Amino acid sequence: MTPTPETTEVLVVGSGIAGCAAALAAARNGADVCLLTKAERPDDASTDWAQGGISTTRGDPESLKEDIIAASAGTADPDAVDVLVEDADDAVTDVLIDTLGIEFDSDGDGDFDYTREAAHSENRILHVDAATGSHILRPFLNYVDDHDRIEVRQDTAALELLTHEGRVHGVVSDEAEEGHPIYAGATILATGGIGALYTRSTNPDDATGDGIAMAALAGADVADLEYVQFHPTAYEGSGARSASKRSGEAAEQDTFLLSEALRGEGAVLRNGDGERFMDDYHSDAELAPRDVVARAVETEREATGEVVLDVSPLAFEDEFPGIAEKCRDRGIEGEEIPVAPCEHFLCGGIDVDDRGRTSLEALYAVGECARTGVHGANRLASTSLLEGLVWGLRAGDDAADRDADPAVVEAPDLRNSDPALPERFAAEKFTRLQRTMDESLGLERDPDEISRASAVLRRLKGEVDAYIRTRTARDLYELRNASVVALLIARAASENTESKGCHYVVEDEHPTRA
Ligand code: SIN
Repeated sequence: MTPTPETTEVLVVGSGIAGCAAALAAARNGADVCLLTKAERPDDASTDWAQGGISTTRGDPESLKEDIIAASAGTADPDAVDVLVEDADDAVTDVLIDTLGIEFDSDGDGDFDYTREAAHSENRILHVDAATGSHILRPFLNYVDDHDRIEVRQDTAALELLTHEGRVHGVVSDEAEEGHPIYAGATILATGGIGALYTRSTNPDDATGDGIAMAALAGADVADLEYVQFHPTAYEGSGARSASKRSGEAAEQDTFLLSEALRGEGAVLRNGDGERFMDDYHSDAELAPRDVVARAVETEREATGEVVLDVSPLAFEDEFPGIAEKCRDRGIEGEEIPVAPCEHFLCGGIDVDDRGRTSLEALYAVGECARTGVHGANRLASTSLLEGLVWGLRAGDDAADRDADPAVVEAPDLRNSDPALPERFAAEKFTRLQRTMDESLGLERDPDEISRASAVLRRLKGEVDAYIRTRTARDLYELRNASVVALLIARAASENTESKGCHYVVEDEHPTRA
């Protein structure tokens, strides 16, 4: 007997803030939702790692809009920014405060303790300590998990999109060795970013660009992929984290973010000679846009050996207990924390409209895997959780409104057969991919190096494709996805010769002090 194909009205792939918001909105609108996530724990999603906070407008949408556009070097799409700022406060109040009951830090006088981060002209960011993401995500996951219209399936990866004549009909998941089709009236990708493409990142290891790769392979438009944002202040560590998961070796995760909120509250950057230097690079000094600070930090590290974040102007232990604890755990003593730029966020992604609709029928993308136009060439701090929330809700609403019954179409023929995958194949190829991205598609890009990197990445993708035809192993698909996205980033970087925001072409003049 042929089993009844599995169907759902709305399928969400990914369990960060954007995926949870999409699932919530679709369910509130009466749709039955299946939420697939390869995560096993909340901290497998980047949202759980978000520190600084979530921006509000504090009643002045125009001012937030101006800051977003200025931080993007004038490249953000003003219409997309309007959508964000118009929906911001209602979305935060409705979902985070009224529905989930999140208790953002207060000032003790009955108002929120709004904080400030780089390139914001005002204190307008809601936060919980500097661990805002986990304080949002954990209750959000519990809420969607308890919702009677939402089924959450953890430890379940989507391998391919089911497509037929330009329309997406769901995904093939890894719940069976030959792949398990799940048909959906609408499919919403919320798979997060690409941190695992670099040796050091502030993202979890699972950030392998899955949604972007699956959508691009199915023919969806992607945009702005050259704009990979590096956060200026991460504790660099040894990079053990990225190497560890895929090699199976136990290693401490030692790279971690030092939130921009530290600089917002007064921390300063000093070079190896003990000098403050940011005044020489930008009139907003430590609060300049993130791309400017990241390149200045790298320039000063090269010139003077190191850069530290001096937290002595703050009551560090009291105001940022979570970060202070991470420092203690790694044996960092004193008030000067060594920092380096580190991959943090992809500003581009799957091209979407104001409801998260992609160029493929019935396919949506939200959160970091999507390119809404809000960030342009460089993202303003504390707008990523907000963008995920706003577009997640919009996409969920739209997907639930579609008059679309799930249709059963032919599923791709995935195989799980010999030859066996050589042991450590995925781990070794991942290391090669990360080194290539670090060297040629980092903070600064040299066109000749990008060409060489593209050749390496093409060869690597060819090797992976040979195995993908015969194996459905999740780590192989993650490697396939990472190599597809790496190649797309390399192509976008090679086609864009203008330095703007996060894309800095080194044939241009090196950043120097003013
Ligand atoms: C941070 O806390 O510095 C990161 C905030 C963000 O990326 O928006």
